[in-house]
Amino acid sequence: MMLLGTQRINGQGHLEIGGCDVTGLARQFGTPLYIVDEELLRQNCRRYAQAYKRLYPEGETEIAFAGKAFLTAAMCAIADQEDLSLDVASAGEIHTALKAGYPMSRLMFHGNNKSVAELELALEVKLGRIVADNLPELDLLDQITRQRSQSCDVLLRLTPGIDPHTHKLIRTGQADTKFGLNIKDGSAMAGVKKALAAPLINLKGIHCHVGSQLLDTEAHEQAAAIMVAFMKEVLDDTGYAVEQLNMGGGLGIRYIESHQPPAIEDFAERIITAIRTELTRFGLNPPRIIQEPGRSIVGEAGTTLYTIGTIKEVSITEAPGKRVYLAVDGGMSDNPRPALYEAIYTPLVANKANEPADWEVTIAGKHCETDTLIKDARIAKAVAGDLLAVLSTGAYNYSMASNYNRFPTPAAVLVGGGKAEVIARRDTLDDLVANDVIPDRLSAARVGG
Ligand SMILES: Cc1ncc(COP(=O)(O)O)c(C=O)c1O
Repeated sequence: MMLLGTQRINGQGHLEIGGCDVTGLARQFGTPLYIVDEELLRQNCRRYAQAYKRLYPEGETEIAFAGKAFLTAAMCAIADQEDLSLDVASAGEIHTALKAGYPMSRLMFHGNNKSVAELELALEVKLGRIVADNLPELDLLDQITRQRSQSCDVLLRLTPGIDPHTHKLIRTGQADTKFGLNIKDGSAMAGVKKALAAPLINLKGIHCHVGSQLLDTEAHEQAAAIMVAFMKEVLDDTGYAVEQLNMGGGLGIRYIESHQPPAIEDFAERIITAIRTELTRFGLNPPRIIQEPGRSIVGEAGTTLYTIGTIKEVSITEAPGKRVYLAVDGGMSDNPRPALYEAIYTPLVANKANEPADWEVTIAGKHCETDTLIKDARIAKAVAGDLLAVLSTGAYNYSMASNYNRFPTPAAVLVGGGKAEVIARRDTLDDLVANDVIPDRLSAARVGG
């Protein structure tokens, strides 16, 4: 059985996370419920920070949490306490960090289509670094910094042109992508020259992000070699020595038992070794190495708890001639990843966690779509009212949640040491209509009424 972080099965055969029996959490907070294991989350932050520091004594290191994976004000506070920088990708994410009191100087602002308003906000709050994605963005930034007589630190997002082994929708380092400046076709060098020529843009370094949920380091190692070779080209061509090398995120996690991603320490070692080898080859000074993981910090720390509802058996033409559909009280609104990327997960009947998982079911959501959460899952025999835990849902679930079918976004609780605290409250039904407006002409008496 796959158990992660502080998860364990207690004497009553119930799943416990952070010392909290999840049946108690369901009673106290309702379901669906996002449960975040604080100890595992913090452990992952520390393992990243310590591994990079230990393995790269010759230079500086920095770990930035990729906020897109899971961002609430409490998450910003934890990142701050753990001394992690924060990667943000919208005005909303900047605002969240601002409201949480997170230091603006530690933000890195990403995005392939930042608006004028977003860039102005970044300058207004004196955000640490803007990761410029393209040449028009650099022109815009040049213009805005001059208008405001305010300088800003910039990294350039580059496309190393490699194809990692992961789902096509989470590959980003290949040449045919909307992200970044291509190294091979000369756009990256054009970006460097444009940034260097802009009087108020302080070029600090380069960035790449090759893809997500990668279960080996091949793509990162290739990217590291390409990025360092580009640093040498830049030095030779412009005299500028790249100070910061940001290698993005990408390390995969265990969604199912057969997923065996490298340990954080091994991932760090392979990337740093690849960088160091190329730095030595070219005789370059060690830049600051930045890594910006999202999924591998929060993914395994998150569990979604549902209540099981309708269970029905249908006849099918293939063997064994029937399928059992087991519906839970959430679905694609709290976890769109199966629908988006055919993502797979491990389920567990949380109040029967000791019972043999030998019942084959298809776990469905309750939306007006075929929102299958897990196809052909094996779980303990369950009945309506039992609790289903879906593991490894900490990344890109809460942050991608929607109100489809006007479902309230579930609450998120942080658990640890036997205590549970709400870090995002559940939407109320009134929250769902809070932005609705009925124009006067529609609220007038009914025609003919
Ligand atoms: C620029 C950038 N950095 C970091 C990440 C985080 O990646 P992951 O969650 O795979 O670690 C992403 C994810 O899409 C990204 O786009």
